[in-house]
Amino acid sequence: MAKTVTAKAHTNIALVKYWGKKDAALMIPQNGSISLTLDHFYTQTSVTFDAHLSADQVYFNHQLLPAAKAARISRFLDLVRHRSGQATFATVQTENHVPTSAGLASSASGFAALAGAASRAAGLRLDAAGLSRLARRGSGSATRSIFGGFVEWHAGHDDQSSYAEVLQDPVNWDIQMIAVVLKATQKPISSTDGMARVVATSPYYPAWVTTAETDLKRMRQAIIARDLTAVGQIAETNAMRMHALNLSADPAFNYFTADTLTAIQAVSDLRSHGINCYYTLDAGPNVKIICAGQDTNVIMTRLQQHFDADQLIVAKPGPGITITEK
Ligand code: DP6
Repeated sequence: MAKTVTAKAHTNIALVKYWGKKDAALMIPQNGSISLTLDHFYTQTSVTFDAHLSADQVYFNHQLLPAAKAARISRFLDLVRHRSGQATFATVQTENHVPTSAGLASSASGFAALAGAASRAAGLRLDAAGLSRLARRGSGSATRSIFGGFVEWHAGHDDQSSYAEVLQDPVNWDIQMIAVVLKATQKPISSTDGMARVVATSPYYPAWVTTAETDLKRMRQAIIARDLTAVGQIAETNAMRMHALNLSADPAFNYFTADTLTAIQAVSDLRSHGINCYYTLDAGPNVKIICAGQDTNVIMTRLQQHFDADQLIVAKPGPGITITEK
């Protein structure tokens, strides 16, 4: 009987962002990044290599994906097959535990869970750094979702040197993120294509790489000092610089909607009233608010002037990957 391996990985939100590749084939980033893994959103994936199959079968939330949609997953499985000597196709069952259509970075938790389940099912025994390197080949942000808490992805310069490790886990101080889940519109451009365009065309790109280095240093110190204000300030500035790159690309693009700007404005207003909160955004319209638990109620009340209660999700630091065999 072929064995089935199940892995569960949580999503992460970058506080110092990855936005650009040095090597697209190996997925080596232009700069290092730091993230917080969240408890609320995760992907659970089971993989079984099966000699009876004539193609990979990928089920996403119980639905069989057409081959075109499963292609990125099959390419990733090819990498695992190549490394392990496993020659057969696989059944992949993946469930995304992210509120419906929240559009919250599922490639991070998705490829981390797939790396964990597929490598073990194929007979590979990778340590955490090895899993992180493998997950990187699926999606850059997945490199960090192998670990819980605060995580740093070292950019590195080749396959061996580009991996993530824990900066702080467990996170035993009061920091959380409120996800403001906004109505999904058609994404203007995928993160993969967006960052490639930015690297190729933004005249400001070299400045991004330089400032990201400084942000990494300051963010490491802020995390060690458990300094919410510093974490929030650095994250917010870093996020806006990333989005400024998109505005400066040729052709320009951006991920903001009118609701995004409303949420950003609400955070600024709260801050001017003495509430210690900051925002960050990834390659989509959703806003994540960095704050302490004690301010949750006042922030939620302010946001509910504009958004429904079910659009607001409070997330706390989450755990690293778990892998089980059956
Ligand atoms: C804005 O990891 O989705 O969320 O490596 O091409 O799959 P690929 O990109 P992806 O990009 C994530 C970009 C980001 C910032 C971050 O998570 O660091």
